[in-house]
Amino acid sequence: MGRVIIGNDHGAVNLKQKIVRHLENRGFTVVNRGVNGDDSVDYPDIAQDVCEEFLATEHAGEDPYEFAILCCGTGIGVSIAANKVHGIRCALPQNIFAARMAREHNNANALAFGGRIKYEEPVEAMLDAYIDSRPEGGRHANRVRKIMELEE
Ligand code: RB5
Repeated sequence: MGRVIIGNDHGAVNLKQKIVRHLENRGFTVVNRGVNGDDSVDYPDIAQDVCEEFLATEHAGEDPYEFAILCCGTGIGVSIAANKVHGIRCALPQNIFAARMAREHNNANALAFGGRIKYEEPVEAMLDAYIDSRPEGGRHANRVRKIMELEE
């Protein structure tokens, strides 16, 4: 199993811990760049740090992270910030179906979740749906390419 990088602000410490436990149970090595306490931090800083570290290993080709996870109170702030970083496609899935689509259709390389959100389905199951699916390619790959061209 590969490596996953995760970051969170003060709004998602418990959720981060739950996600780390689940990923480790699935055999991933998890690198935690988030905070572990209640002191207020700025989620754009967390998103930038995680995304830049994720991309650095991808570009170096050395033991790259398989994907990144970002958590804040809603998941919204970290996902907006992450999607400003060129090379990141961060999805904010609301359920298992969306988590699977994030991989199959959007080839997302980052997922965002909210520690203050009451999800109707377990975040662990959403993670599993993403982890156990693969990009479909074809017309979806063409659309992802068009997304990436927006960075140019
Ligand atoms: C922090 O209070 C909160 O704004 C942050 O965690 C996140 O929800 C922003 O989108």
